[in-house]
Amino acid sequence: MSTTASAPGKVYLFGEHAVVYGEPAVPCAIERRASVTVEARADDRLRVSADDLSLDGFTVEYSGSSDERPDVDVPTPLIEAAFGYVDAAVAQARDAADAPDAGFNVEIESDIPLGAGLGSSAAVAVAGIAAATAELGCDLDAREIAERAYQVEYDVQAGQASRADTFCSAMGGAVRVEGDECRTLDTPDLPFVVGYDGTSHDTGELVSGVRKLKDEYDFANDTVAAIGDLVRQGEDALTDGDLAELGRLMNFNHGLLAALGVSGRSLDNMVWAARDGGALGAKLTGAGGGGCIVALDSERGTKTALSLTPDCTRAFRAELAQDGVRVE
Ligand code: PMV
Repeated sequence: MSTTASAPGKVYLFGEHAVVYGEPAVPCAIERRASVTVEARADDRLRVSADDLSLDGFTVEYSGSSDERPDVDVPTPLIEAAFGYVDAAVAQARDAADAPDAGFNVEIESDIPLGAGLGSSAAVAVAGIAAATAELGCDLDAREIAERAYQVEYDVQAGQASRADTFCSAMGGAVRVEGDECRTLDTPDLPFVVGYDGTSHDTGELVSGVRKLKDEYDFANDTVAAIGDLVRQGEDALTDGDLAELGRLMNFNHGLLAALGVSGRSLDNMVWAARDGGALGAKLTGAGGGGCIVALDSERGTKTALSLTPDCTRAFRAELAQDGVRVE
């Protein structure tokens, strides 16, 4: 017998980075999912295979202890995704089901680019916990899965994680996260377009960079507070269904993130291409550096404009995903 669970990726409408310092953020789940299939084994080992859009697939087998990881020649982000997040997700599932010696064959499939600001690791952690607990006959609700997936990200990212990605992936739709207060939001239809530059970033490094800037410069603290104010204004625009105002606020949010040093040339170029293509607003999504931007489309010209931009390797529409985690 095997069990499959899937969970969506996300874009940040507003608030990444500032959310790490207790400001609110509004991530939105998108129709790009990670799917994790687990099959209980007779022993306590893990066999992990992963296939991702942005990297070649691979298969490895190990005992589930980080010390015994085999030396395999695959890119670091994928190793982290496969070992770090799966290791920690399986540990959470073993704990929840009170089955410390459970072993699994794990297969990950994802159409969410890794480390690009679309919440791939959160989706893998959420889907992994859901699949492994269901396989062990232990039913967790979406909020419990979100909390355990947050612990996974917190552990793997050495304490540099907010609840935003994992809560959003577990619940679906648009959510608001401020510290440990997390809730879902009612929103109008949000016609997102994503531009991807084909690169990945190290979230921990970018978060550390902002922390350093905050230690050294008052303006960085003010900028983080300004992002918080903007998110609160954004909530009103969401309630009113005012897409033009949402777009304006996304543009301001991008500027503030750039002031914190987390944009980059390819992200800026894609943001401007989206705006020139008629988007109501555009900003980087996630930690920044490289990866993805999200635009709010108006006349459906944004995707074409992005596709014609040399820095953009892929542009796609990303409908708001109403479903969060689900056991398939
Ligand atoms: O790039 P991502 O998907 O890892 O998003 C990071 C978002 C941050 O706010 C920078 C960090 C966090 O944990 O909230």
